[in-house]
Amino acid sequence: MAEPKTNVLMEKIVSLCKRRGFIYPSSEIYGGIAGFWDYGPLGAELKRNVKDLWWRRVVHQRDDVAGLEATIIMAPQIWKASGHVDTFSDPMVDCKTCKGRFRADQLAETPCPQRPSKMVSECHGEKTPPRPFNLMFTTHVGPVQDDSSLAYLRPETAQAIFAQFKNVLETSRQRVPFGIAQIGKAFRNEVTPRNFTFRSREFEQMELEFFIRPDEAVEAICGHVATPAGPGHPGEPQPDWGWQMWHQYWVEERLRFYESLGLSRDTLEEYWQKPEELAHYARACVDILFKFPFGTQELEGIAARSDFDLSQHQRFSGKPMTVFDEELKNAWAKLPQEKQDALWRRYFEARRAYLARMGETAEQAEALARADADGLARGWYVPHVIEPSAGVDRLILALLCHAYSEVTDTDAKGKPETRVILRFHPSVAPIKVGVFPLLKNRPELVARAREVRDLLRPRFTVFYDETGSIGRRYARQDEAGTPFGVTIDFDTLGETPALKDTVTVRERDTGRQERVAIAELIGWLEAHLR
Ligand code: GAP
Repeated sequence: MAEPKTNVLMEKIVSLCKRRGFIYPSSEIYGGIAGFWDYGPLGAELKRNVKDLWWRRVVHQRDDVAGLEATIIMAPQIWKASGHVDTFSDPMVDCKTCKGRFRADQLAETPCPQRPSKMVSECHGEKTPPRPFNLMFTTHVGPVQDDSSLAYLRPETAQAIFAQFKNVLETSRQRVPFGIAQIGKAFRNEVTPRNFTFRSREFEQMELEFFIRPDEAVEAICGHVATPAGPGHPGEPQPDWGWQMWHQYWVEERLRFYESLGLSRDTLEEYWQKPEELAHYARACVDILFKFPFGTQELEGIAARSDFDLSQHQRFSGKPMTVFDEELKNAWAKLPQEKQDALWRRYFEARRAYLARMGETAEQAEALARADADGLARGWYVPHVIEPSAGVDRLILALLCHAYSEVTDTDAKGKPETRVILRFHPSVAPIKVGVFPLLKNRPELVARAREVRDLLRPRFTVFYDETGSIGRRYARQDEAGTPFGVTIDFDTLGETPALKDTVTVRERDTGRQERVAIAELIGWLEAHLR
């Protein structure tokens, strides 16, 4: 279970996570299980904050996104339609000497199980030729374990959104363009889980499927399709936006989200996949990367997936995934014949190409595409989709790596002492405020401190601590990433009359202390925790 000792900073972070209750190896008392991790008390709070912030931003703060919470196990046909049964695999090789099993494309980066100081490419063992290894975990539904009861643990949350597209559309009264968001567990039987939680076998995703009009419909309605004028955020969504504008919009929205959590732009990179790297249905895909201590790696992918997913579910389920667009129908009727013909042909060609790629015969593809293009002329189409897909666990790891810092103080005897401060952005910090009576053995201080704790608790996550020196208590909260500490001392009780009913508020990052009236404490903290 031990992680390869490749990176001192990562080792420190992994050990802090265990020691302070952010992340533990799953099933540790039995030696652990590779690729599975549990979140402890502080980790559970951090994760909850991250998911709440994503949900608030993507769902609650918008009119055009609705939420979904679907099951992990779904009808297995879903994974056939999505392509996961046939193609969701990594190339795997076995080493005939060390008996290790590796991803062929990661051989050079993987430690040999027999000689962890060596990378696999340096292990001289003969390797088998690569063969595809499907990453989906299988299970059986019901008492009989045969092919008819085979099911999969979902490898992504996205497919449930496509499968429930029509239900959400009908019940949420949304109209294209609009999105459906979901946060939930996903499972992949990764060949080589690694880099702590970065590549796990059980993890969580935060996914948005944002459905848009095909460009032909936009052009029919608006007379043109707006495309990006240059880099940067394109501003408020407009009716003339084609898929490129929507794609750029979501890339920029997602970057802004990461910045709002304290990950500055210089810690992030954008990677535009090259045409040869794109999935056959994708028109573009941008990865947002974070500079982890073990390398610059993907946090989130934002893909323009055309109308592939809904079209696949339409073909496999036999249920229409088309929407009716009144504006398109009306606009189309007013178009000159020449324009109608041009748009009809473009849509027809795109649909025919997709159907042919999916294995329909030439005649069948032609007939179905013709029907689709005729449908477009009457206001019907399968929506296209932009998919921002983020990993919760990777974001948690990025936040931990970014927040980690060490300071060296000298103790009372003049000895240097290095301690850790997690400089979390206040919005994600697991605990927002520590509350401390200066002394534990003075009942009047303890009683007042408990009153302050109870005052703050309905508004903030508060940690009350009365044990150890006040310096130790501050240090413990610095290590947990708590932005503020509130101390109740004799001045609070009125020893200095002018300071009666005030407390000391200490800032984690600067150590600066400020006297704040208890009556104003909630407002002060609210203003500083944004
Ligand atoms: N629906 C699209 C999709 O699932 P993906 O790039 O395979 O795309 C999206 O996954 C995100 O999920 C990744 O950017 C990453 O943050 C997270 N993710 C994927 N595999 C993961 C793993 N094994 N462990 C942790 N997070 C993972």
